[in-house]
Amino acid sequence: MKYFIGNWKMFGSPKSINILKKINLFYTKDKNRKKYRIIFTPPYTLLQNYSNYFKNKKIFIGSQNCYQKDKFSSNTGAISPYMIKSVGAKYTLVGHSDNRIEGDTDLMLKKKVNYAIKNNLRVVFCIGENKTEKKNKKTFQVLKRQLTNVLEKKFYNNIIVAYEPVWSIGTGEIPSSQNLKETTIYIKKILKNIFRSNTPSVLYGGSVDGLSVQSFKEVKEIDGFLVGGASKSSKKFIDIIKNYYR
Ligand code: 13P
Repeated sequence: MKYFIGNWKMFGSPKSINILKKINLFYTKDKNRKKYRIIFTPPYTLLQNYSNYFKNKKIFIGSQNCYQKDKFSSNTGAISPYMIKSVGAKYTLVGHSDNRIEGDTDLMLKKKVNYAIKNNLRVVFCIGENKTEKKNKKTFQVLKRQLTNVLEKKFYNNIIVAYEPVWSIGTGEIPSSQNLKETTIYIKKILKNIFRSNTPSVLYGGSVDGLSVQSFKEVKEIDGFLVGGASKSSKKFIDIIKNYYR
């Protein structure tokens, strides 16, 4: 099973559901539809509305983050995994670089993953090195730390890993397919040490669009994509899927 995930970040109003309706229509007619799953992570404000609408349809809804506590507490502005689940979402991203940059530590991320899974959300756990780390050849070291400090065997079945090199997010700069292949194989090796036979799927994210996906699809180790900018247009998102299976 492949995954195509659209992360809207700070984008979207109630009307933007029309973008997802078009993607859903494409999906229901696509001859390849049994091979993949579509997930979208709109902002918190739209989770309930969109989850209700897509309840019996094919697009899955998730949140972009969650707070590192279980249910209710006195943290102004925070949204817990329980609250996300209670409005019908099925997934959550955890560890996106936008949130790591704002101060999410490995310890906080571990709590987020724990509470999300406790509340029956599936977690898309994001990892990735920044430009300096890449330049200093620290990529593998960083990825290993991000994975081993947070993930545990007991999370199996509920984790998807998304490799998003920070230098590629929103920049149009992408890893070569050879480079991406080596990194993905490395990530899968670390995951095998943690999860044994139940290794999670590994997605790629960073400047994925209809054009770049043509080089990524050569990397057979990649199990899908986490898409930012191009997920805000139904046409651009559909192009990614079409070109992947072409
Ligand atoms: P872009 O596709 O805009 O590079 O964003 C990737 C991303 O951060 C998805 O979570």
